[in-house]
Amino acid sequence: MTAALSADTVAAAHHKLKVRKIDFEFTDDIPEFWYAGDPFRTLLLAALSGGFPEGERFFIDSVRHFQDRITDPALKKAIRSFIGQEAHHAKQHHALNGFLSRRGYPVDSIDRGVGKLMNLFRNYMTPERQLAHTAAIEHFTAIMAEHVIMGDLDELRKMAPEMARIWAWHAVEESEHKAVAFDVYKETVDDEWVRISQMMLATFLFLTFSSIDFLRMLRRSGHMTDLKMWMNGINHYWGRPGVFRRLIPKYLRYYRRDFHPWQEDNSARVDSVKTEFLGEWA
Ligand SMILES: [Fe+2]
Ligand SMILES: [Fe+2]
Repeated sequence: MTAALSADTVAAAHHKLKVRKIDFEFTDDIPEFWYAGDPFRTLLLAALSGGFPEGERFFIDSVRHFQDRITDPALKKAIRSFIGQEAHHAKQHHALNGFLSRRGYPVDSIDRGVGKLMNLFRNYMTPERQLAHTAAIEHFTAIMAEHVIMGDLDELRKMAPEMARIWAWHAVEESEHKAVAFDVYKETVDDEWVRISQMMLATFLFLTFSSIDFLRMLRRSGHMTDLKMWMNGINHYWGRPGVFRRLIPKYLRYYRRDFHPWQEDNSARVDSVKTEFLGEWA
């Protein structure tokens, strides 16, 4: 635990987790480029979704392995909610992936690829390093979720309504449980070398595979050589102020010795996203 955060603050955050078993429906009237009519933005998210089901199953297993060593009641309860949330994310992204693959996008093969990689991790990495991997990727999902939540929400409004709902839901829950794997790691393993070196490896793998997957999706869309789309997409993500450019300082915080996910408290904004996009499930 860091000096800047009290145990009460973290325990309160852990108590806020809520498992929302929403069933999303992806109907045929959803346009092919459901995010701002833009292949670049749509397929970047679609490529991410491709790897979620197998990735999230791995997160669950890696945390579950250490579950019995946790004594703090707030964290024990949070672990159960974390598992419930990630299991339902996997299920709903599997449904979204089915919708994308019916339209000819190679999301199933992305998921199989992630599954193979996760099995390599299960077979060749220590449980401690597997947990460090989950904590690292959870930092990625947390800062991406934070971007969705802390942005002006216009990006979500540019999506087809059911797509906005699933991404808002996922962002809300990733934000709610962002410290669970990290706190389990701190309570059980707490090895800085393993934590930091695994973040470096996770970063390399995440960026490499997401880029490859995105290009595969783009090739399928027929927009690979659409220069205007490329310029707009690169500007949106890497321009000034680009989405990814703004995430870099947040990403780098993970390397600080006193880092804790709740040093950044965005729960007030999470509430407004819930109100606008989750309705009865808020
Ligand atoms: Fe998730
Ligand atoms: Fe997560």
